[in-house]
Amino acid sequence: MSDLVLITGASGTIGTHLATDLAKDGIRLRLLDLRPPAGGPPAGAEFVQADLRDQGAIEKAAAGISTIIHLAGITQEGLFTEMVEHNITSTYHVLEAARRQRVPRVVLASSHHVTGMNVVGDQPDQASLAPDSFYAVSKIAMEALGHLYAHKGGIEVVAVRIGSYRPRPSEPRHRATWLSPRDATALLYAAATRPLPSPFLTLYATSGNAERWWPRTGWGAIGYQPVDAADQHPGTGPLTDRFTGGAFADHELPA
Ligand SMILES: NC(=O)c1ccc[n+]([C@@H]2O[C@H](COP(=O)([O-])OP(=O)(O)OC[C@H]3O[C@@H](n4cnc5c(N)ncnc54)[C@H](O)[C@@H]3O)[C@@H](O)[C@H]2O)c1
Repeated sequence: MSDLVLITGASGTIGTHLATDLAKDGIRLRLLDLRPPAGGPPAGAEFVQADLRDQGAIEKAAAGISTIIHLAGITQEGLFTEMVEHNITSTYHVLEAARRQRVPRVVLASSHHVTGMNVVGDQPDQASLAPDSFYAVSKIAMEALGHLYAHKGGIEVVAVRIGSYRPRPSEPRHRATWLSPRDATALLYAAATRPLPSPFLTLYATSGNAERWWPRTGWGAIGYQPVDAADQHPGTGPLTDRFTGGAFADHELPA
């Protein structure tokens, strides 16, 4: 029997496209989300409607799985308590389910916002965290949990700090941050399946944009070679953002 890939957050923007692409390539999929996919799951894919705050539900869904691509969560700035439930506790449930069900690899959808308070033009070390929001803090916790489970839970974990996933670049900052849908599929699938140099890997996910804000460490290790680049789409205008996190860095903390 070929590998079975579990995608959480499969009804969201990235999950919908990823599931469609992987199903077309004949990859067996189990999709999980709070809500059903618009238009139904791709042919051949199973769909599980579940809330990741329910540990039993994800443990059941993880049975027989070879890789989990964990995309589910709140993706905008919000209340700290919501971030804890949907982004941190849910990630703990996913990793714990993987450990108990002996799923060998988990890919975590982290975010470039974990370093979003860095000033554009600085060349920060990959390890210098600078969260720009409660959302970013929840992604740092996600990465920390991934590191812990990679070293104590017997699971390989790749934390992917996604840039700006869009059909095409539409803001000046996307010249550096853009990740095209087809590059995202290639990167996430490579992170899910290729041999790793170490049990825990963190990498930034963008297309092959000429403008670079982040190191490309880890791309070679998983064999990621982007085919798109923001510079193929000129006309986004002059950059006015001071921080790499863009609008997230400018927002006040939610009350
Ligand atoms: N889109 C981007 O540019 C971008 C950038 C950086 C990081 N990311 C990360 O990538 C992931 C996917 O992003 P997206 O744009 O597809 O987000 P999205 O908001 O479109 O999809 C998220 C999905 O998660 C589901 N979900 C939320 N809480 C859940 C729970 N408790 N249980 C089960 N399902 C739940 C939602 O129903 C939704 O379908 C997110 O984790 C996001 O933080 C995205």
